[in-house]
Amino acid sequence: MDKLHIEGGNRLDGDIRISGAKNATLPILAATLLAEGPVTVRNVPHLDDITTTVELLGQMGVSVTVDEKLSIEVDTSTIDKLYAPYELVKTMRASILVLGPLLGRFGEAVVSLPGGCAIGLRPVNIHVDGLRAMGADITVENGYINAKCERLQGTHLNLETVTVTGTENLMMAAVLAKGQTIIDNAACEPEVVDLARFLNTLGADVQGAGTPRIIIDGVDKLSGGCYDVLPDRIEAGTYLVAGAITQGRVKLRDVDPSHLTAVLDKLREAGATLDVQESTIELTMNGRPKAVDITTAPYPAFPTDMQAQFAALNAVAEGRGVITETVFENRFMHVLEMQRMGAQITLDGNMAISEGVERLTAAPVMATDLRASASLVLAGLVAEGKTEISRIYHIDRGYECIEEKLHQLGARIKRAPD
Ligand code: UD1
Repeated sequence: MDKLHIEGGNRLDGDIRISGAKNATLPILAATLLAEGPVTVRNVPHLDDITTTVELLGQMGVSVTVDEKLSIEVDTSTIDKLYAPYELVKTMRASILVLGPLLGRFGEAVVSLPGGCAIGLRPVNIHVDGLRAMGADITVENGYINAKCERLQGTHLNLETVTVTGTENLMMAAVLAKGQTIIDNAACEPEVVDLARFLNTLGADVQGAGTPRIIIDGVDKLSGGCYDVLPDRIEAGTYLVAGAITQGRVKLRDVDPSHLTAVLDKLREAGATLDVQESTIELTMNGRPKAVDITTAPYPAFPTDMQAQFAALNAVAEGRGVITETVFENRFMHVLEMQRMGAQITLDGNMAISEGVERLTAAPVMATDLRASASLVLAGLVAEGKTEISRIYHIDRGYECIEEKLHQLGARIKRAPD
């Protein structure tokens, strides 16, 4: 298994392009199952989670063509298996996103339960209950969700918790349902909006995405089409923190700053200067960052997927910072690894309280989940000595060409076999 080796201490300075958003591409690829004609999805990032989704569609008999510029063409006319096996779902929880589209279009689906997850319980009860309310007959047996229905029936859903993939799954199921579906307490994340736009491009009637009430009027069928995925706001935020933590300068191209408001506010509070244009953000950090307090919550509040990166920033910032995690109950594994690099962080329930230190020291550390691994890379960029990060398959799930992009900014990072 490969490791990442990072030689800390370089000030980053440079420009990079931000890739298409992983968390928008995954539901969009799942939603291609709803389309009767061929669909082309462009600006797809080159990531392991995308490969897993392509495999998932492929083993259903769907024909998927990936071209070298990373557009993906999907043709569902050859589908012959309405099934998502455990082997794929266990490597990527978001595989559950095929449940809604399969049921909505074909009236049948067998999807493995995702199982445990390093960052908390992450159940799928809201997905299942919502589909049942739309008329699906669902049983759970031997670790699999078995779902069947005649045509789904539009209904009024009031989600008990804000869930991103839950909202997306139910929205996709409702697109071909009979009548109107209202989803209240819907997730407002930009990726939910991107999925709605994609569905509407194919002929769906989805209104209100980006607000807590989404209204879907069922249509008889979706056609093919072509769509460009939005930029990845979490990748963008991660590289901005890389600039801030190394007291450097980083300019991002092909980014949508309007999706990053909460993150940009915190970077300014930490002392960064930001030049924000329509599709670029340039960050300059002169001097040591100041620690910030953060509370994660659903969009538009501060994203849980940026929490670990700010924990790294706070670890070397001036003063005390309190991070409160309200979305997932066990998302501080990175803190334990950072402590091994000399970070002064204490955990108290869902809070991580840091007293910033002047410098971290390199240590062998282990990536435990996707965003935790990004935070360890950030910590490695400012640690004295050579940090060695193992289990980096987590990072390849969500960061396209991370070594190349960090090289471009002047970091000393390389991938090496164990
Ligand atoms: C998505 C993102 C992930 C991000 C998360 C929160 C994708 C592919 N992944 O994950 O990167 O960290 O949103 O922004 O888009 N919950 C329930 N019952 C359910 C569903 C969720 O109780 O049926 C709870 C979860 O345990 C969690 C909270 O709701 O505490 C939010 O989770 P959710 O928004 O569903 O996360 P994901 O959609 O899995």
